[in-house]
Amino acid sequence: MSKVILPEPDPELKQLSRALCALIREEYAQSGFMPFSRFMEMALYQPGLGYYSAGLHKLGASGDFVTSPELGSLFASCLARQVEQIGRELGNYDVLELGAGSGQMAADLLQQIDPDVAPRNYWILERSADLRARQKDAVAAQVPHLMGRVQWLDAPPHAPWQGVVLANEVIDALAVERFRLDAAGVHQAGVRPAIEDSPESPRFEWCYRPAPEALLDAVRKLPLNPKLPYQTEIQPDLPAWLEAVCGKLNRGAALFIDYGYPRHEYYSPERQDGTLICHYRHRAHDDVFFWPGLQDITAFVDFTALAEAGESCGLELSGYTSQSLFLLACGLDQLLAKRFESANDEGLSLSAEAKQLTLPGMMGERFQVMALSRNLPLELLGFGLRDLSYRL
Ligand SMILES: C[S@@+](CC[C@H](N)C(=O)[O-])C[C@H]1O[C@@H](n2cnc3c(N)ncnc32)[C@H](O)[C@@H]1O
Repeated sequence: MSKVILPEPDPELKQLSRALCALIREEYAQSGFMPFSRFMEMALYQPGLGYYSAGLHKLGASGDFVTSPELGSLFASCLARQVEQIGRELGNYDVLELGAGSGQMAADLLQQIDPDVAPRNYWILERSADLRARQKDAVAAQVPHLMGRVQWLDAPPHAPWQGVVLANEVIDALAVERFRLDAAGVHQAGVRPAIEDSPESPRFEWCYRPAPEALLDAVRKLPLNPKLPYQTEIQPDLPAWLEAVCGKLNRGAALFIDYGYPRHEYYSPERQDGTLICHYRHRAHDDVFFWPGLQDITAFVDFTALAEAGESCGLELSGYTSQSLFLLACGLDQLLAKRFESANDEGLSLSAEAKQLTLPGMMGERFQVMALSRNLPLELLGFGLRDLSYRL
């Protein structure tokens, strides 16, 4: 990735980052090695200081990046058609949204789902206390009459339930392990303070150690045929995370939407530096050490790993396709036509939104949708145009 010039953060934000860096330094000094996964975890979720935990703007035009639900309500309207189809099959059902960001998708979905097949409860499981508060404000402001249906959970449901799990751009925000392959073998990537690091100007750098046995085992299972040296990411905790969030779903489906690839593309020999990307004020770049806590750090999703994680939790793969094919199969065209009929001067922004969601160079193909289900013998609407599961 070519060098991107990043705007300087405001002084008070730098102070926030310095406080987080002091904690990172302290933990590094105590442990002697900080795996990248731990650095990413702290940079994103350290209470009060991590990117998602502190009160930064994050999503939307005034933040660092825009997600599909932030572009407008087209995405949620299409998703609503998919939820309704599953809801009709299940009868009584609940929705569990993971990582609900600003709460926009929840508000739009609640508004868009046909009241005759509306979920009994709309649960939100959100790690960030700051975002939870924003979600409450968004839902209260936009759908006050449905606020009673929405509950914020502190943990995934403990009791068996039936319904739909939704997660848009959540897996890319889970901490990943990074490793390097070279002539000397497999090394786990870590983070340490650089020589020029100081409390005033924090600076971290990569460091490496021979991969611990568990990581080595996971790497051995990957179809790697790289030009050396080769660095990339892996999410060894994905099966445990999926079991935690979907373990009690005994009937229904989980829909995961994210940027990613099937495994053979994820670990292609050309992708020599992995998939980590940072977002800062609408600039995508690869400096993961830029002011920790002030920028988003993400990794692409290995969808083959997600399907396998599903299998290990007893979930069945019910569909895998691109975002554009999913949205079109859910009726994006008809929806657009209807909206255009009633649009006055928002026609232009509607078509810009539709393009952004579906064009291959934008979100249409970079984003993929996967459905994992249990006890749900149903051809899911969103995969009706083309199911790409054979590519996994
Ligand atoms: C990239 S944002 C996406 C937000 C939203 N889904 C959207 O599409 O606009 C990632 C979201 O996932 C949340 N998150 C990350 N890890 C989580 C976890 N383990 N459980 C629940 N939420 C999580 C973050 O706090 C944030 O709300």
